[in-house]
Amino acid sequence: MSRILVTGGSGRLGRSVVAGLAQAGNHITSVDREAVPAGLLPPGVVQETADLLAPGEALRLLREAKPDAVIHLAAIAVPFSAPEDVIFATNTRLAFAVISAATEVGVPKIITASSPTVLGYGSPAGWLPPSFPLDERTPPKPWNAYALSKLIAEQTMQMFATAQGDRIRYAAFRPCFVISPEEWEGAPTQQGHTLAERLADPALSAPALFNYVDARDVADFLDLLLQKMNEIPNGETFFVGAADALATAPLAELMPRFLPGSEALSAGLTGTSPAFSIAKAEELLGWQPRRSWRTELTSRHTLNDEASALVTAGGGSKETP
Ligand SMILES: NC(=O)c1ccc[n+]([C@@H]2O[C@H](COP(=O)([O-])OP(=O)(O)OC[C@H]3O[C@@H](n4cnc5c(N)ncnc54)[C@H](O)[C@@H]3O)[C@@H](O)[C@H]2O)c1
Repeated sequence: MSRILVTGGSGRLGRSVVAGLAQAGNHITSVDREAVPAGLLPPGVVQETADLLAPGEALRLLREAKPDAVIHLAAIAVPFSAPEDVIFATNTRLAFAVISAATEVGVPKIITASSPTVLGYGSPAGWLPPSFPLDERTPPKPWNAYALSKLIAEQTMQMFATAQGDRIRYAAFRPCFVISPEEWEGAPTQQGHTLAERLADPALSAPALFNYVDARDVADFLDLLLQKMNEIPNGETFFVGAADALATAPLAELMPRFLPGSEALSAGLTGTSPAFSIAKAEELLGWQPRRSWRTELTSRHTLNDEASALVTAGGGSKETP
C-alpha cells in the first residue's frame, strides 16, 4: 500500500483516479479547491480543501501527508474557458508549485498531467502532423495558452528530473478526451454534448481528432505507472487513450473531411484505429485500456434509441488495421 497525494482530486478525471487508486489498496489524500460531497468520497480517502496557489500551501500539505507519490491533476482544464493569461499563469504556476514542493519534501514519485493538445491540432492557421498515428515523438506545436501551459508542465517535470537524477522518479501523461463513468449514462461530456451526440455528429469529435479515454482506464494506467516507475527511464511522457477512435466510421474516411490535406497521411487509420498511438505505454508499462465506447455504451440499460442504433451500426466492427 502506498500513500498517494492527488491534486485536482474532485475533478472529472480526479474522482476516478482517487477511486481507482483507493480501490487498488492505496491510502489517498485528495487536494482540491472544491470539496467532493462526503457521501461520494470513497471510503478511507482523506480530503483537503485548499488553493494550491496560495503561498506555502503545497509544501504544507505535502509535509503533512508525507506521500510516497504525487499525481498532479489540478488545473484549468478547458482551453479558452478563462482569459489566456489566466490559463497560462494558473497552470504553469500550479505545475511548478506542486512539482517543486514535492521535490523539496523528497516525494519519491511525481507525476503530472499534460494533454494531447500540446501537438497543436485545431490551429486556426492550419495543422498537419508529419505522420499518423500521433505518438510521443510527434513534435509539439501548441497554439493556445492551455496547450502551451501543458507543454511547460511537461518541461517543468523534465527540468526537475534532470536536476535530481534518479533520486526521484518523474513522469507526465497526456490523457485523451476523458470520459467519466456518469458520462456513459448520458451526463454531458467536458464540451457539453452527450456521448451519443458526439458519436452521431463526427464534427463534434473532429476537433480532438476523435480521441477519448475512460477515466477508469487512466486510473489503471497511473496505478501501473507508479508500480513501474523505478524500472523505466526517468522523465518520460505517455499518451493515454482508448484503443479505438470515438467514431462510427474509420478515421481514414473521416479525417480528410475535417483535416484538409490529410488524405494520404490518414490512409492507414483503417478499421477502428485511433489517431493517437498508445504503444509506448504498452511497451514500457504493459498497460492497455480495458474500456471502449463499444463496450461501455452497449452495457448500459439507459441507452437511448439514437445511441443504440449507433452501437449496432458501429459496434460490430472489431477490425484492426
Ligand atoms: N478532461 C480531459 O479530457 C483532459 C484531457 C487532457 C488533459 N486533462 C488534464 O487532466 C487534469 C484533470 O482534468 P479534469 O478534466 O479532471 O479537470 P477538472 O476541471 O474537472 O478538474 C480540475 C480540478 O483542479 C482543481 N483546481 C484548479 N485550480 C486549483 C487550485 N489552485 N488549487 C486546488 N485545486 C485546483 C479544480 O477545483 C478541479 O476540481 C488537468 O490537468 C487537465 O488539464 C484533462
